[in-house]
Amino acid sequence: MNLASTRYTKTAKFLHWLIALGIFFMFGLGWYMSELPKEAPKQMAYDLFDLGIYTWQLTKEVSPRTFYYNLHKSIGITIFALILIRILWRISHRPPALLTSYKAWERKLASGVHYFLYLLMVALPVSGIIMAINSKYGIKWFGIDFIEGFDNKAMRELYHEVHEVIGIVILVVVAVHILGALKHKFIDKDETLKRML
Ligand code: HEM
Ligand code: HEM
Repeated sequence: MNLASTRYTKTAKFLHWLIALGIFFMFGLGWYMSELPKEAPKQMAYDLFDLGIYTWQLTKEVSPRTFYYNLHKSIGITIFALILIRILWRISHRPPALLTSYKAWERKLASGVHYFLYLLMVALPVSGIIMAINSKYGIKWFGIDFIEGFDNKAMRELYHEVHEVIGIVILVVVAVHILGALKHKFIDKDETLKRML
């Protein structure tokens, strides 16, 4: 651990950008899949998002909704594992101190937002996992049976709401976080963004 360090470690940067990308992708996927029709012909292969880039071959026929819901759960579990690794890394590696040029309110806001983001990054997938466990489908991780579903409608609906609300809150907090990064880059013209690149 280097106390004089002014930059994030390569691992911290890699996990920060990979998880950020993963979360944005999961929002897109979540909105896309919930618009899919409940009744649609089953298929053995899926051209991902009909982009013509990659076709996913399956071992049995499923409806588009089942395919994309399973994909959302599988990627969500993977991102959750990365988030836990990131938190362990954060606990064992002290991040660089905030820049000394920050005003008192900027310090409070920046560290408050960072801690809140860690909390939300755990709460969002956990609420998804609790919702999925309470559905009749349970959770498969890329085709491997992970957890059976309990088929508890009331709990599933409750955690669907929770998942949605946490999703909205994280979007707002991430927006504040991004605005902060842009303010430091273009108004204060300091090193904040560089430390994470
Ligand atoms: C990692 C970050 C995640 C993000 C950003 C995310 C985001 C979203 C979004 C935007 C939706 C659509 C809006 C809605 O219907 O609520 C959604 C729905 C859903 N998510 Fe996630 N999610 C994440 C993780 C997970 C995980 C780990 C699981 C379960 C293993 C999960 C299970 C679900 C399910 C089952 C739905 C569909 C709800 C329904 O339409 O009945 N999500 N998610
Ligand atoms: C879902 C998206 C994102 C999440 C969850 C997230 C989360 C976080 C967290 C928790 C930290 C604190 C790291 C620590 O001290 O342990 C951090 C730092 C940082 N993030 Fe993000 N971030 C996201 C997206 C972005 C984006 C899009 C940008 C750039 C526009 C950005 C720029 C930064 C910068 C510059 C830092 C370092 C701040 C400093 O040096 O004090 N982040 N981020």
